[in-house]
Formats: sequence, structure tokens, C-alpha cells
Amino acid sequence: MQYQGGKEKIAKHIVAALTEYIPGHDRYLEPFMGGASIASRMAPLFPGAATLADFDPDLAALWLAARDGWEPPTVVTREDYAAAKADTYPSAYRAFVAYGCSFGGRKWSSYATNARGDDFAGAARRGVLKKARGLQGATILQADYRDGLGGTGLLRPALRRNSRIPRRGRMGRRGVLGNDDALDECGRDGCGLRVRRPRRLGDDLGGPEAGQSQRAR
Ligand SMILES: C[S@@+](CC[C@H](N)C(=O)[O-])C[C@H]1O[C@@H](n2cnc3c(N)ncnc32)[C@H](O)[C@@H]1O
Repeated sequence: MQYQGGKEKIAKHIVAALTEYIPGHDRYLEPFMGGASIASRMAPLFPGAATLADFDPDLAALWLAARDGWEPPTVVTREDYAAAKADTYPSAYRAFVAYGCSFGGRKWSSYATNARGDDFAGAARRGVLKKARGLQGATILQADYRDGLGGTGLLRPALRRNSRIPRRGRMGRRGVLGNDDALDECGRDGCGLRVRRPRRLGDDLGGPEAGQSQRAR
């Protein structure tokens, strides 16, 4: 499934970098699972000990349902798209249509179609089903990381006053993602993986020697 900001194309590099940190850790926590490109590859490395979350209620519903055997439709017409958009109740189907059947995987950008007649819904469906296999046994939550992941205690509640509101256009219109806070929280004891703070975008993608990134605390 296409997902705006998804990591599908660079997933193998990210997973390789994260895998270095597995020894000595028995739990995986991903607070921003999005299109699940990383989550579905990392969760199987932590059987029964992966917690994945996203604060988008549609997305959380999608991955929960897919994990439990829900299958997306094979066809989504333009009329289906409009109807799903109008029905604001969060659901797996709504997420599938909103992301998987929109141009660029951008939620409700516009109905994806082209002159070649590409099968956008079919491709999205195959992507969801493939990722669902990697989510077996994982805990999936709808939660905002700043609230400590729904009271699970897995992430300490980040102080909202410390949240760095991203500059307009950097992280989307909602402007709620405080990356520095997330890295700080994940770097503390108690999270499954330690994270490195990239010096600039891409530093972390080439293995330990590629960037002189520091480990966060
Ligand atoms: C760029 S996407 C993650 C992409 C994912 N790694 C992938 O490969 O598809 C970022 C996600 O963070 C979620 N998000 C943004 N702010 C959040 C918050 N405060 N708490 C939890 N999730 C949040 C968004 O809904 C979005 O799905």
C-alpha cells in the first residue's frame, strides 16, 4: 500500500540498521507505524513482544483488522471513494481507501487513477496482505506517543510543552510530530531499541560507518 512518507523503498536499509541493536533487547516499540513498512519487518524479529502504534484511528484500525485476517476489497470505484470519505467513522476500510486508493498514498489527496488503467486498489490490497503476515502476534494500538502510548507505560508521557512543532510543510498539515521528543523518549531506558539521532536525513541509512551519528542517551 502506498503511504505518504512510507519507507517501503528503503525498508531493507532501515531494518538492517535497526537489527544491529537487537542483541540485548527483548521488546520492539514503534510509535509511528504509518504504512507498516518497517513495523511488518521488525515485528517478526520480536515474536509476541512488538508494540506498534499510530495516532491515526483509521490506520490503527486497518493494521489491527489486517493482522486479524481482514481482507481489503479488490475494487474501489470513484463512488466508493467518495462514500468512504463522507463516512467519517474510523475503520480499516476507510484507511484502505483513504491511503491505498489516493494518489501518492496521501490521505484523501484524490482518487488514484490513470490512463494506463493501473490497478491501484489491487496493488494496495496485495501490500496490506503482505504486511499483515509480518504483524502476527504484534500488539497494535491507536495512540499518541505524547500520551505515553495509551497508558501502556512503554513510552513515558512526553511533555507537551517540550514538543517542537514542525515547520509548516515539513511534517504535514497536522503539524503534531515532535521528532526530537520521540527520539529522546526512545533513547531512555525502558524502550526496546535505542535510536540514533541522525545528523541529517539519511545519515542512518548506510550502517554504523556511514554517519557519525550519536546514540541518543
Ligand atoms: C511518515 S509516517 C510513518 C511511516 C512508516 N514508518 C512507514 O514506513 O510507512 C508517520 C506516522 O506517524 C503518525 N503520527 C504523527 N504524529 C503522531 C503522534 N503524535 N503519535 C503517534 N503517531 C503519530 C502519523 O499518523 C503517520 O502515520
